[in-house]
Amino acid sequence: MRQLIRGRTLSFYADPIDTETAYIYHEDGAIITQDGRIKAIGPYADLYDPALPETDHRPHLILPGFIDTHIHFPQVQVVASWGAQLLDWLNTYTFPEETRFAQQGHAPEMAEHFLNLLLAHGTTTAVAFCSSHKASAEALFSAAHARNMAMVAGKVMMDRNAPEGVLDTPQSGYDDSKALIAEWHGKGRQRYAITPRFAITSTPEQMQMTGQLVREHPDCHIQTHLSENRDEIAFTLSLYPKARDYLDIYETYGLLSQNLLLGHSIHLEPREIARMAETGSRAVFCPTSNLFLGSGLFDAQGLRDAGVVSGIATDIGGGTSYSMLQTLNEGYKILQLRGQKLHPFAAFHWATRGNALALGMQDQIGTLDPGTAADLVVLNSRATPAMALRMARAETLAEELFILQIMGDDRSVAQTYVAGKPMLPGMPG
Ligand code: GUN
Ligand code: ZN
Repeated sequence: MRQLIRGRTLSFYADPIDTETAYIYHEDGAIITQDGRIKAIGPYADLYDPALPETDHRPHLILPGFIDTHIHFPQVQVVASWGAQLLDWLNTYTFPEETRFAQQGHAPEMAEHFLNLLLAHGTTTAVAFCSSHKASAEALFSAAHARNMAMVAGKVMMDRNAPEGVLDTPQSGYDDSKALIAEWHGKGRQRYAITPRFAITSTPEQMQMTGQLVREHPDCHIQTHLSENRDEIAFTLSLYPKARDYLDIYETYGLLSQNLLLGHSIHLEPREIARMAETGSRAVFCPTSNLFLGSGLFDAQGLRDAGVVSGIATDIGGGTSYSMLQTLNEGYKILQLRGQKLHPFAAFHWATRGNALALGMQDQIGTLDPGTAADLVVLNSRATPAMALRMARAETLAEELFILQIMGDDRSVAQTYVAGKPMLPGMPG
């Protein structure tokens, strides 16, 4: 099936921090999609074809769908839990909630809600932690597969320091992960992420078997948490007294590579930063979560200068919004507190091509390049009266993007396409 989608198209081919000419923008642009992929992009006048069905999104912007590189699927009912920092928050709210995913029917129901929420916020790919129950990952993968959404996910492995109902064992964590990889990794658009939750909840035996999984499946992603909170770091180092630092635990078990996504990565030692750069391990910035849990201020510029690639993510349910626009908003404010700047072009690059680069998936998602998936978000910069009033004073594309970044949320998402298919009912597309 071929179609033409018309609007103001914006896609990045480089990081705006490195170069002034990083994007291609067509004021009256068009995308032709065929069989779920982008076939062509250019000015509407060049691509117009009377034989094609046409959807006109003008005056809205059309960008690659947002990518969320760190989110917890079993925490949709944890968001906005009051009054705690990381370790108390996990023990009081999060672990008990995740035990519910053992109940028959709960994970499939939540998976539908989760994917509906992602799409309503313009997110077309997420890198998701599931609960420790194999069925939670099965539910998410099958729901994403049914919608043809590119999902990277894994069941968390955790065998200590949490309630019985969310614990696995080194052997069952290994076996369940292995079975999920066999069934889902590379099936349609699904990819598996080997997921040791963090060092606190894994014994050395489990970390050892995690390393084995990583060696046996070198093309899987790996996701975990690193240096989010000072108490977490102190507890972690007490559990692994031989480790030189927090990262050294993951290093000892052979987890460091370009496939590794290290959520938070806030309070890092110079040695850790150097090893992340040398091994290509990715940091993932989770602004709304870091503010909500009072975790700390991510050093985007410092990591970048050291050669570390970073993604940006919501971290629901420590994070407070599914919106990558709101994530960029809070990211901007965190970097302000650090004396750093997040320019709107850099911000929109980060949430699209930048996150695709962090995943090594830039040939599939994150741009509007021909040959990549037709995963799109259509953004309305005048979605609310306050935005419309502010937009009346905007003269440049950068100003418009910044208004979306600071004031936008799901109300600004006019449509979301997954593999060429409009996913929001009742919206044009
Ligand atoms: N560290 C280990 N587990 C979690 C989690 O679920 N959320 C956050 N924010 N940090 C974690
Ligand atoms: Zn997390």
